[in-house]
Amino acid sequence: MDAADVEADLVNILYTEDEIRAKLGELAATIEADYAGKDILIVGILRGAVMVMADLARAFHRHVEMDWMAVSSYGSGTKSSGVVRILKDLDTDITNRHVIVVDEIIDTGLTLSWLVSNLASRNPASLEICTLLRKPEALSMDVDVKYVGWDIPNEFVVGYGLDYQERYRNLRDIGTLAPHVYS
Ligand code: IMP
Ligand code: MG
Repeated sequence: MDAADVEADLVNILYTEDEIRAKLGELAATIEADYAGKDILIVGILRGAVMVMADLARAFHRHVEMDWMAVSSYGSGTKSSGVVRILKDLDTDITNRHVIVVDEIIDTGLTLSWLVSNLASRNPASLEICTLLRKPEALSMDVDVKYVGWDIPNEFVVGYGLDYQERYRNLRDIGTLAPHVYS
């Protein structure tokens, strides 16, 4: 789906498909340099990180392994509470592995900070986070996010895996959702 297909639902286009691809290329190059000589396992958080995983993985000029987790976070309304349940765990034993958790957006960071402590207890060789987008609130979280595509304002965005009520995930670009859609 192109932004033109849902033009009336978007306030703006924040990042185009081309800008996203270029940014993921930069992130992959940085990660490649940081992990020279080491095997990498990237772990995508379903379902939002599907597009990021697909394009980030293909931007590497080296081998990376891919695995997936699905978690549900309980919260009141639209805010997550940090109480998390694993719906699908890794298929991979991450003991002594170099693990990079890949997410599409970090808002409060509550889900991810729970996930990182869960994964850290499995004794990986290293554990880092890569996110395409980060909202301001995440800056106050106690978990270090090593790889960030863009810091964005505190607005609700959709596209490129990001949904509003399961829609817009298949939009090629990332845009700010117009308030009339959710009010
Ligand atoms: P948190 O970091 O624990 O608050 O939760 C982050 C999750 O909330 C993300 O993985 C998204 O599923 C969802 N989320 C947060 N902000 C947005 C947004 O602007 N658009 C779509 N989903 C969002
Ligand atoms: Mg989501």
